Amino acid sequence: MARFKKIAVLTSGGDAPGMNAVIRAIVRCAEDAGVDVCAIYEGYEGLLKGNIKDLTQRDVSNIIQRGGTMLYSARCLDFKEEWAMQKAIETCKAEGIEGIVAIGGDGTFKGARDLCQRGMPCIGVPGTIDNDITATEYTIGCDTALNTSVEMIDKLRDTCDSHRRCSVVEVMGRSTVYLPLQIGIAVGASAILVPGYDYDFDKIAERIKAQAESGKRNFVVIVSEGLKGVGQALAEHIEKYAGVESRYTQLGHVVRGGSPTVKDRVTASQMAAKAVELLLAGESNKVICQHSDRIDVYPIDYALDMDALYRGKKTAEDYKDKYSEEEISAMLDYCEKRNAWLKEFYDLNEALTK
Ligand code: F6P
Repeated sequence: MARFKKIAVLTSGGDAPGMNAVIRAIVRCAEDAGVDVCAIYEGYEGLLKGNIKDLTQRDVSNIIQRGGTMLYSARCLDFKEEWAMQKAIETCKAEGIEGIVAIGGDGTFKGARDLCQRGMPCIGVPGTIDNDITATEYTIGCDTALNTSVEMIDKLRDTCDSHRRCSVVEVMGRSTVYLPLQIGIAVGASAILVPGYDYDFDKIAERIKAQAESGKRNFVVIVSEGLKGVGQALAEHIEKYAGVESRYTQLGHVVRGGSPTVKDRVTASQMAAKAVELLLAGESNKVICQHSDRIDVYPIDYALDMDALYRGKKTAEDYKDKYSEEEISAMLDYCEKRNAWLKEFYDLNEALTK
């Protein structure tokens, strides 16, 4: 017999295709264990407002293929405050909520960790198109966003070819590099510009000029959303110095919607099943990760600390009282491997563009 009677599920931060598949699998797995599930609508904001409703099996029918999140989402700034934490804990008690599965990115996990520290068991499931949670190789929604981006850029290339033009395309993913690098390779970009990697407008223009002289008529350059203003300026530079008419396009939020791919539906289902299994086994403060296509689990705190280290917000020195030397060196090693993994994609595109 399960120790739990009722758990809750919420989605928070930017939505991602596949979140609905997670919600469905949570409700289905919990029911198998005789546990009820309630929905917290609009993320942590909904938790503060008491926007909570029990979910039945039928509530999660016919949603696995839908984009967005049936629980809606919000970014809740108040959730950093102690009063908000206390209110959230009181609400959970009043609603009979004994554990929470929180789906989202690093902001969502910070909220989950803070709730855990105040006695509410939480498990995090990574759902963000950005694939920017350092502790996991994959976050739900990324594959769908990649495929949508590629589909749209392929269309841009058709019109580029007709007009002998270059499309400079800004893609989502904040300052993280996974999305632009994957998209760039998949569309055969003439160049990919991402934060942390040097770029030179003149070299890009020279490359496009040479490509045009060899008979190429269609050109795509991918620019990360993190390089504000660069896309438009580069399009003007290419037009002026490569002699190829250029257009700047921002794909924007359209890539966050749409029906999730098979990869996102399956990964969502696997991660959700693991989250429920852990929560009902009495685990807390864990985030579900994926490494080499296998589901893995890390403490949320560790995942957030590794993220901060990877992004340079913290140094090894900052962690010397919290982790052993071996643990710190394992974290640094992991971050280095992630960088090397990403750099391989960048180098591959440079080698393939002709
Ligand atoms: O984190 C997901 C994401 O879509 C990023 O790629 C993007 O920078 C951001 O969210 C946009 O946020 P908002 O939906 O608040 O405009």
